[in-house]
Parts: sequence; C-alpha cells; structure tokens
Amino acid sequence: MSQAQTVAEVMGYIFACTNKTEQECFDRMLFSTNKLYAEKALQVKKGDRLFLLNLDSDIFYGPFKAESDGKKDLVPEAWGGKYPYQVKIEKTNKTTVGKTSGKILNQLGIDWREPLSSELAGILIECFENGSSNGSNPLNVQLVIPKKLKNLQKSADDKPTLESTTLWDFPRQSYGKTPKGNNRYAGVTPAFIIYNMIKRYTEPGDLVVDPMAGSGTTLDVCREENRKCVAYDIAPPRSDVIQNDARKIPLEDNSVDMIFIDSPYGDNIAYNSHPGNIGKISAESEEFYDELEKVMKECHRILKPDKVLGWLIGDQWVKKKFTPVGFLIYQRLCKYFETVDMICVTRRNQTSNTGMWHNRAIRFNFYLRGFKHLFLMRKVSENKLSSTRTKVNWTQYSREKDSEKETNSSENHQDIQ
Ligand SMILES: C[S@@+](CC[C@H](N)C(=O)[O-])C[C@H]1O[C@@H](n2cnc3c(N)ncnc32)[C@H](O)[C@@H]1O
Repeated sequence: MSQAQTVAEVMGYIFACTNKTEQECFDRMLFSTNKLYAEKALQVKKGDRLFLLNLDSDIFYGPFKAESDGKKDLVPEAWGGKYPYQVKIEKTNKTTVGKTSGKILNQLGIDWREPLSSELAGILIECFENGSSNGSNPLNVQLVIPKKLKNLQKSADDKPTLESTTLWDFPRQSYGKTPKGNNRYAGVTPAFIIYNMIKRYTEPGDLVVDPMAGSGTTLDVCREENRKCVAYDIAPPRSDVIQNDARKIPLEDNSVDMIFIDSPYGDNIAYNSHPGNIGKISAESEEFYDELEKVMKECHRILKPDKVLGWLIGDQWVKKKFTPVGFLIYQRLCKYFETVDMICVTRRNQTSNTGMWHNRAIRFNFYLRGFKHLFLMRKVSENKLSSTRTKVNWTQYSREKDSEKETNSSENHQDIQ
C-alpha cells in the first residue's frame, strides 16, 4: 500500500429497536432508524461493527458486521416505511446476546445514539467476550467490562443530545470541534437550538433557510449535518451569508424544508447601521411587529406545506417597562401558521448575567430575562385548513399508577428504532 493510501477506520454503531420491531431486524437481517438518527445510519460503511439495543428489554445483541453501507430505503417496505435509514447486517462468529446493557453502556460512558470510535467498538466486543454465560445458554451472557479499562475516550464527536422536553438549557453557544457561528457576534444563536430543530424537522439533503442569519450559526450546523442551507442577512458579517432584506426573500414559493430565524428583539443590540435593519426599531412600537410580519409572510410563502418554521425571540424589560415581545410576535405568527409547540430556552450568556446585575435585580425589585421563546410553527397544507378540533379520549391516571405507566411505555419508543 502506498503512503498516500489510508485505511478507513472501522467504526461502531448501535441501532435501537423495541419489542415490537426487534423480530423484523433479524428476519430481514436489517438495522434501521428514522430521520432523527439518519446521519448516523448514513455514516455506516460496509465492514463496520454494529450492535442492536432493545430499549424495552435492555437486551443487547452484537457484534454484527455491516454488509452494506448505510442507505435510505434499502428495503422500502420494511417496518411499513417508518424507519427508512437502513443497513444490511451479517452475524459474526462472536454474535451473542448480552444482558444489563443499559448499565454497562452507562459505565462505559457510551450514548447509543452516537457513533462509536473503533476503540469503543472494540471495548464493547470485549464486554461480550468477557461476559459470564448463564448456564444452559452460552449465547446469553451477562456483559462484563474488562478490568484493564481506564481513561475511556467518549465517542468521536461531542454532538448535542436531542431535547425531549419544552425546556432547553444549553451551557455553551457551540459544540464539536469546529465553531458554529461566531460567539463574539452580538446576539449569536446557541447552535444546539438549530441542531435540535434540523434533526427533528428535516432529513439529510433538505433545504434550510435562515433569513436573518447574522454570523451564520445555521449555515455551520447545517453543513455539518448534510443539510443544504441558504443564509441571508441585511448586513452579512461573512461572505457565505448573502446580503438580503428578509422582507423579500429571493426564493420560489413552496421550495424550502425548514426555516430558522432569530430576529432582533427590538432595538437593544446595535447589529449594524444598514437602513433596513429591523433591529433599529423599538419593540415598544407597532412598526416593529408590522415589519417582522412582512418577514413572516415571506417565510410562509417560501416554506413547503406541512414544514416547520422556528422563531426565537426574547421579551423586553427596559426602564421599568415590560414588553411581552414574544407574545406579540406569536400573535402575528398565528395569522399564518399553526402551532407545533412552544419551547422555553434558558438565557445564559447574556451580558447581564453578572453578580452586579443579579444584585441590582433584587435591590431594585425587577427580574433579569431568564429565557427566550422558541415558537415552532407549521405551514398548514390546504387540505388541512378545514380540519376540526382533535378529539382525545383522556386516560386519567391516579398517582399510585405512575409506576405502572412507566412500565407500559413501550408505545413511546416505537419511533426510535
Ligand atoms: C439575533 S441576530 C441573528 C444571529 C444569528 N442567528 C447568529 O447566530 O449569528 C439578528 C440578525 O438580523 C439581522 N437583520 C436585521 N434586520 C434585517 C432585515 N431586514 N433583513 C435581514 N436581516 C436583518 C441583523 O443584521 C442580525 O444579524
């Protein structure tokens, strides 16, 4: 082999299933996932190490070998099309069944959602080899961590976790080995927000637009996750952000898969001196909302039906006057979109997050802004406009039954595989 040639590293990947979906994995010799973990599945290369974790039973199967690269729709009809990101698998002569996998993964600091470095994949295989078999069935082992293991490395990349509640709290602006946006840009967006949104609402290859992109956080996150991205700003601070006024977006109707927008919250930050900068208008004036409504209208026009817009905005408390900027923006958004959900994003890195400001807030009896609103809105498709209110048959649980509820939760896992 020449010097220039490099051997591709054999990586490891854990796929998940539930009691409901497990059998089909083995019948078809196929592991799969939905769009939440599409990136991981598409990274798999033939020959990589694979494992299967049953989230209901905590049983772990492995190691397997990838018989194909990860692809979309290798077997389109599998699982009724619910898990289209797939990889063909083959057993190895070491394939076995492991127990108490959750505990072992925890001890090893492994998150099943993330790719495993070759080192970690090797360690997991050792756990199977070291496993103490339970009597009659040698293929059914208690996984055991090899003694020599110290200073374990975590998986190759430090990717954010996917949020499962409506309270998002991120300790830093960015993650990973490369910067996402510029954390010195006033008003820069936490990259974790955009990561969570594109993982939930787009697929690899989809087009994401940020009409007020500032330092380009959306661009950087999308590039790393293989989404196409067009980013505009009235005064772009970098060359791959296109100069444009968000009140007129040069894109066709119904052409975009997701929009993220972190607009000015009023005139609290001097972004630039461009005459079209909406961040020069006070959030106490009606004009501020009228101008941003023009942006909403454009977003609605370019978004494909059923696709999602995320709008990040904070309230204002200035000179003893509170302005509910978030609710006023939300009212305007509701003219064009239906609500998917509302997220509360903790504010951490603002300039007022200092001891002096916290003291003043208490001494002078006011509150510092502790959160921002993230409104998740959907463009309603024409045929849904006439739909009526959702009918729900509520199941009322008493407190005593909470533990029962937890054990019956396998339905909640069915989208994870
Ligand atoms: C909160 S910042 C966006 C931060 C960005 N998401 C980031 O991570 O760097 C709001 C941006 O809106 C831009 N802006 C203000 N008025 C605009 C307009 N009419 N059209 C496009 N962008 C505008 C500002 O220049 C500023 O960069």
